[in-house]
Amino acid sequence: MAADFPHLLSPVNIGPRLIRNRVLSTAHVPGIEEGGLPGPDYIAYQQARAKGGAGLQISGSAAIHRTGSVGQGRSLDNTAPGIVEGYARLADVIHDEGGTFLIQLGHAAGTVNDTDVGRPLLAPSGVQSSLIRETPRAMTLSDIDEMVEAYAAAAGKVRQGGLDGVEILGAFGFLPAAFLSPLSNQREDEYGGCLENRLRFSRRVIEAVRDAAGPDLIVGFRMPGDERVPGGLGVAELQEIAEHLAGTGKLDYLNVIAGTNYDRIQRMEHWPPTPAPHGLYVPLAAGIKARVAIPVFTTGRITDPAMAEDIVARGDADMVGMTRAQIADPNLVAKLRSNRADQIRPCIGANLCISTATEGKPLRCFVNPMAAREHAWGAAEPAVQPGRIVVIGGGPAGLEAARVAALRGHQVTLYEAAPALGGQLARWAKAPMSAEFAKTLSWYEDQLTRLQARVELGRPVTEADIEGLDASAVILATGARPAPSHPIDGAAGSPVRFLTPWEMLEAPPSDSHVVLIDEGGGRAGLAAIDAALDANRVTVITQDMAIGELINLNIRTPLYKRFLSAGAVFRPGEQVVRIEDRNLVTRNLYSGAQGRIEDVDCVIDWRGNQAVDDMVGAIAARGLDHQVIGDCLAPRQVHIAIAEGALAARQL
Ligand SMILES: Cc1cc2nc3c(=O)[nH]c(=O)nc-3n(C[C@H](O)[C@H](O)[C@H](O)COP(=O)(O)O)c2cc1C
Ligand code: SF4
Repeated sequence: MAADFPHLLSPVNIGPRLIRNRVLSTAHVPGIEEGGLPGPDYIAYQQARAKGGAGLQISGSAAIHRTGSVGQGRSLDNTAPGIVEGYARLADVIHDEGGTFLIQLGHAAGTVNDTDVGRPLLAPSGVQSSLIRETPRAMTLSDIDEMVEAYAAAAGKVRQGGLDGVEILGAFGFLPAAFLSPLSNQREDEYGGCLENRLRFSRRVIEAVRDAAGPDLIVGFRMPGDERVPGGLGVAELQEIAEHLAGTGKLDYLNVIAGTNYDRIQRMEHWPPTPAPHGLYVPLAAGIKARVAIPVFTTGRITDPAMAEDIVARGDADMVGMTRAQIADPNLVAKLRSNRADQIRPCIGANLCISTATEGKPLRCFVNPMAAREHAWGAAEPAVQPGRIVVIGGGPAGLEAARVAALRGHQVTLYEAAPALGGQLARWAKAPMSAEFAKTLSWYEDQLTRLQARVELGRPVTEADIEGLDASAVILATGARPAPSHPIDGAAGSPVRFLTPWEMLEAPPSDSHVVLIDEGGGRAGLAAIDAALDANRVTVITQDMAIGELINLNIRTPLYKRFLSAGAVFRPGEQVVRIEDRNLVTRNLYSGAQGRIEDVDCVIDWRGNQAVDDMVGAIAARGLDHQVIGDCLAPRQVHIAIAEGALAARQL
């Protein structure tokens, strides 16, 4: 099947270097950098992607100056002592794997809140990002000179460290983009106003960086193809800007993305979660490619190698960013090369990776528990003494446990009480906004078949079965079920129907007024109501200050778009105190004022999950070697269940 990807897998010259294929891992901060340096965790993370065959890898934004950092030590920092030695260690490892690695030179301007004593945000003008609302200090001419020198100094350190080059981050409102865009540049001097003036800072940076990097390193520039916001840069002006940038003769490529962090919606949409369309920014790259003679890269929800192949074959771009795709499966290219494209663990656009990164935590992937734990966990070794492993429960925890146990050479039998695998993940896959989660289940089914694990569906394991279990060890992963509703005055005599989220996902009503009381938080309640959204009137009420308060903004933003566009009514800061016939009487938590939600047909009173742990005692009593994992240990998030599955299987 490698023959199916002749364009994607073909080498390409980017400036002075030959890159082994067209698959790009674009800049991202995995949040495991240590004090601004690439430590063992970071190096192992990037090594896994180089070993897996990535053509070109780019670090996340590495601050060129102390005013421009993004992650308080959890991203690379060119000003950190020891950075050159760190780059050298990284370079050795990546080059040994045949990879090519660039450092992204970043200054976050006014778009990322990382202020401190003596460290205000610096930007062309004192314009706030509509998301972080910190007012930066407008740069003086000497600040501009200092920043240009800082970009050059950073490039010099990358050169000294033996890496392959740099990418100047000129998108997302970072410093060069902030100067380019009239949205953030209101200067009246030679750096503001007409396009030539707004280009001046980028030109100076490009020139200084090229001088410091020399002719034998790659120098690229990441730019938007459309800022997609009123007052920002549009497609036509950015194509003109691309011509000017390429016309400097100093750049080896343009890497085209979209949006700007100066705008709260666009900050979220340049890395959209499911169900955003795949490859949504390809037309922007193709439009720029038609105007310039240097290579152009594209990125944005490209997870399917067949789509990536078509992009290169059509000539829309020279390299294809498959960043989250390689977070989910670092061996993507290796699998393409060895005719195993159908075994790639799919990125399903859950955006946990982005949520964790923007919260300043180590990256976590919804589907791949190894991501950013490569060093901490190491490879799963074959079992010293293969045994007979019984896994009870085929939700995310049980599926991963069964897979890893079988991979290690154990003989695995998985019992699932339901007629299909997947547990709560399968239920979420019924909601339109998370339908793509079904890909993960298909992948597990296929993997378990290949690994010859025995799967018994519709087969609950009861206490009576335990005596006869032929197992050297048991993994209990029976999951959780929705907690019961809280008593509400008047509920007993009312015609309002109470449904659990599961019942709503299984059989959503139509032409009804459905109310979600969201006291469980997270995505589950909202996923349930998502299933009802298109054919019903929907109201969501919560005591939280906002609907979905605990959900990271990068996921909450598209949820809001869908819910509010479909006419859902949000009532944060309120609780339901009583039911009177078909009306819910509400109370505002802060004012105490009473209100009403009228003509209600169904209520989901979502209070979170409770563990299904009935079998734990019986298994322990039988003296079986066993482990309890996932939600049946305590209800938590899917990625934690999957990680516990992996760890349990490693201990066998
Ligand atoms: C965890 C994470 C951190 C990111 N950090 C950066 C960054 O530092 N600089 C940057 O230019 N893009 C950053 N991005 C955006 C990616 O480069 C890329 O544009 C985005 O993930 C969309 O591409 P994909 O759909 O192939 O993942 C980050 C993405 C992720 C997932
Ligand atoms: S967390 Fe979700 S979006 Fe991010 S890489 Fe994993 S599957 Fe893809």
